Amino acid sequence: MVPKGRHTIKVCLGTACYVRGIAEVLDRLKSEFKLGVGGITEDRRFSLEAVRCLGACGLAPVVVVDEDTHGGVSAESVLRILKRYE
Ligand code: FES
Repeated sequence: MVPKGRHTIKVCLGTACYVRGIAEVLDRLKSEFKLGVGGITEDRRFSLEAVRCLGACGLAPVVVVDEDTHGGVSAESVLRILKRYE
């Protein structure tokens, strides 16, 4: 059992998100937070999960943090978004 971070980041790897660039978002998260899918940051701030379609394909690429859905996310904007979650 891997413990959960204070916030859970769900990255959508469904087709719509994939073709609109979620791979770069995921790579940025991995490098910025030294975080793998299924992992947790050292400070326990974030857990990272990959999911298959969050049902919000019109907003692709989509990242959900806790209960908040963020659409049109880029490798740059995802870092700004995550600043709100301490
Ligand atoms: S493919 Fe990402 S929300 Fe549907």
